Amino acid sequence: MMIDGTRRPRRLRRTSLVRELCAETRLSADGLIQPYFVCDGTGVSEKIDGLPGIKRESVDRLINTVAEDMTFGVSKIMLFGVTDQKNPEASFAVSEANPVALACSELKQKFGDDIFVSADVCLCAYTDHGHCGVIHEGAIDNDCSVKILTAMALALARCGCDCVAPSDMMDGRIGAIRESLESEGFSDTLIMAYTAKYSSAYYGPFRHAARSAPTSGDRKSYQMDFRNRREALRELELDVQEGADIVMVKPALAYLDIISAFDQTTVTPIAAYNVSGEYAAVKLMAEAGLGDEKALVLENLTAITRAGASIILSYHTRDALKHGWLNN
Ligand code: PBG
Ligand code: ZN
Repeated sequence: MMIDGTRRPRRLRRTSLVRELCAETRLSADGLIQPYFVCDGTGVSEKIDGLPGIKRESVDRLINTVAEDMTFGVSKIMLFGVTDQKNPEASFAVSEANPVALACSELKQKFGDDIFVSADVCLCAYTDHGHCGVIHEGAIDNDCSVKILTAMALALARCGCDCVAPSDMMDGRIGAIRESLESEGFSDTLIMAYTAKYSSAYYGPFRHAARSAPTSGDRKSYQMDFRNRREALRELELDVQEGADIVMVKPALAYLDIISAFDQTTVTPIAAYNVSGEYAAVKLMAEAGLGDEKALVLENLTAITRAGASIILSYHTRDALKHGWLNN
C-alpha cells in the first residue's frame, strides 16, 4: 500500500529545527515564581529534609540568598513563614514583625521593583494546632478566620508586599481581603488566590519544611476533594467575582485537567503550584539515577504550561535558571 503524502505528520518531527519551529508550547522564565521559607532568628540557614536544595532561612540570610538568585534571573518570589510563635488565634500571623513581613520590607527596600514579592496568607504556620483557620467549639470558624486572614494580608501590604496569596480555602476571603486592601489605600496590591487547592498527599515535604502539619485531623473540611472538577469551577467563579487578580490550581501535575478547565472558562491569568511532593519526586528519581533531572523538569513545566497555566510556582525555578535549562 502507498502512503499518501498528505498523511505524513512525521515531516514536522524530522529535525530539531523543524520541531522547534512548530512547537505549540514555549516555556519561558517570565512566568516562574520561586518559593522561599523564612524563619525566626538571625544567622539561620538550614537544609530541609525532603526538599533538596531548598532552605529555611532567617531574614538576614534570606536576603543574601535572594540577591544571589537574582543574579541568574530569579525575579518573582513567594514567601512562606516558619515560626515557633504559635497560639490558637495565630496572633503572630498579623504582626508586621513576623519573618515574612520583615522579609517583604527589607526586600522591597533593597530591590524595589526589580523584584516581585508575593507572600502566603494562611494561618497554619501560626496556629498551635496547625489548621489553616481558627477553631471554635471543635470546628473551623470560617468567618473569624477570614477576619484574621484579612488583617494578615493588610500587614503584608503595609510592608510593601506586591502580591498576597491566600492559601487557606476559607469561603469569602478573597472579597474580604480585596475590600480591606482597597479601603486602606492598597489598591495596587495583587491577590493571587489559591482558587482550587486540593487536599493532597503531595504537600508532605512542605508541611515538614514549614512545621505546619495539623496536630490532629486533616484539612478536608476546607481544601477540595480530588474527586471534584465542577466544584473547582464554582470556586473559580467566586474568586473572580470577589476580585482575584490571578487564580491558582494546586497541586499541578495530577490536576492538569483542572488547569485546562480554568483555561477554557476564565480570562483571568492562571497560575499552577508545582508543589513540594512533585519536586521531591523528581529529585528522588534523579538522585537514584532513574531519570535526567533537566529532562524531567522541562517535561513537567511544559505540561503545566500546555494545560493552560501561564504562571508556575515551582521549587525547580532556581535550578532551571541557574543551569540555563530554559535556553534549550
Ligand atoms: C498551607 C500551604 C500548603 C502549601 C502551601 N501553603 C500546604 C498545606 O495545605 O499544608 C503546599 C505547598 C507545597 O507542598 O509545596 N496553607
Ligand atoms: Zn494553611
